Amino acid sequence: MKRIKRTQDYEVSIEIQEKKFINPPREAQRSAVVNRALKEFSYDLNALHEQTKRFVPGKMVYHFEEDRKQKILEKDEIMENWLIPVMRAMARVVTENGGDILEIGFGLGVSADMIQEYPLRSHTVIECNEDIIDRYFVSWKENYKDREIKLVKGLWQDTINDLGLFDGIFFHTYPLNEDEYLQYVNASITFAEHFFSHASSHLKPGGIFTYFTNEISSLGREHQRSLLRYFSSFTVNVIPLTLPDDITDTWWADSIVIVKAVK
Ligand SMILES: C[S@@+](CC[C@H](N)C(=O)[O-])C[C@H]1O[C@@H](n2cnc3c(N)ncnc32)[C@H](O)[C@@H]1O
Repeated sequence: MKRIKRTQDYEVSIEIQEKKFINPPREAQRSAVVNRALKEFSYDLNALHEQTKRFVPGKMVYHFEEDRKQKILEKDEIMENWLIPVMRAMARVVTENGGDILEIGFGLGVSADMIQEYPLRSHTVIECNEDIIDRYFVSWKENYKDREIKLVKGLWQDTINDLGLFDGIFFHTYPLNEDEYLQYVNASITFAEHFFSHASSHLKPGGIFTYFTNEISSLGREHQRSLLRYFSSFTVNVIPLTLPDDITDTWWADSIVIVKAVK
């Protein structure tokens, strides 16, 4: 079976050699689903064509000379300011049910401040970097002396199982080394995917998990299927961004997607 989608700008073709590959009862059904897949890919190419016209150049390639778990980092290396609107949107989402909130990755505490603006019972933070804890967490906590705040030092991978269940989980870490980059970025549909099963098992029923994904205007199908394996529903919010031309992060588009997944 061969299908071709041709426009003025490109041609996409697919040839299915294996007869049993996509093999519903009727040939017309096979044709319909393959046509649909091709059409969807073509729509996606057209959307990318429009979106990439507005990309900033940025600085390319992510290098991991050393492990970042305990590395002393510049402020901008921890988080750049363009992410502030994303933090705000995620803080609003994660506190929708109030209750007990788990934040993974403290960074500069920008999102932690925003989370504290909403009514909640407790705020637990998991953070692995001692220098980030000393420089940013300790002084941040001084501003919230009367609040129920708990710091869990270490990697979430080593600590989360002792923490019980939450009403909301806010996930914002980054890859700590080359291995994590290869596994969590290159080999995944979205960075947070490696955390989906953990988020689901540490949420109360109806609890909310939020993260952002490097997608511009919607969620890819593989990403959606992966979410639906662990959550009962999800919603997507497209956050408009103003990016610096020389952004050092691996993001170049003028919007990014945040996800609210409900257990
Ligand atoms: C991008 S920063 C978070 C920024 C934060 N949302 C803010 O608004 O400032 C990521 C943080 O996650 C921490 N981190 C990365 N991997 C981690 C892991 N596996 N366990 C715990 N913390 C981790 C880093 O040390 C860093 O503080």
